[in-house]
Amino acid sequence: STQIPYATLILRWYDRHQRILPWRAKTGTIPNPYYVLLSEIMLQQTQVATVIPYFNKFIENFPTLNDLAEASLEKVMAMWTGLGYYSRARNLHRCAQEVAKQSGEIPKDYQALKALPGIGDYTAAAILSIGYNQPYVAVDGNVERVTARLFAIQEPLPMIKPTLAALAKTLNEGREAQERAGDFAQALFDIGATICKPKNPSCLICPLSEVCKASLEKIADILPIRQRK
Ligand code: ADE
Repeated sequence: STQIPYATLILRWYDRHQRILPWRAKTGTIPNPYYVLLSEIMLQQTQVATVIPYFNKFIENFPTLNDLAEASLEKVMAMWTGLGYYSRARNLHRCAQEVAKQSGEIPKDYQALKALPGIGDYTAAAILSIGYNQPYVAVDGNVERVTARLFAIQEPLPMIKPTLAALAKTLNEGREAQERAGDFAQALFDIGATICKPKNPSCLICPLSEVCKASLEKIADILPIRQRK
């Protein structure tokens, strides 16, 4: 039978059900890479609902990356208070200063991004896909879970991490997802957070249910398996 590509199902769902979040570009507008950088640093270890008020407060106080670079570390740390993992705030401030000192523009290239403080594989891929619409796949816990279920991967995390990342990278193959890399990356986050939840996944309303191996085998709720510590 003819199979609709995963990316098509994912993007169709996103067009109808994407979450409205303050760092997201409105449909048809160009993303602000500074908003993407700031939100992705905040979202590294913190949930979306917690991040929203902090993100808004940062944007109010530091509307541009240059404003953030010129602010005192004390002020940045004070505004981060309550968000936790404070090295993120120190790195963010250093990152803004380095970018401001160079071209003033957040790099559009993977290696240049990774050379900045606080930016690893995940954040570099998120900035390039969401901020610059380049076809990178940012693999976080949400994306690992969606991928493990879609392909019914039963080997445990963390051992299986590289396999899940490689599989996730196959999901955006095809012209549609390559052209809409930012939407595609955010669609995976939204599906992971709102449908393909860790507990009680909502397979009945999932755009991937008919092609999801774990859903078809009724084992979605037990995946991914995590090695006991
Ligand atoms: N989690 C990490 N990055 C995200 C984003 N851009 N949107 C929603 N959830 C996320």
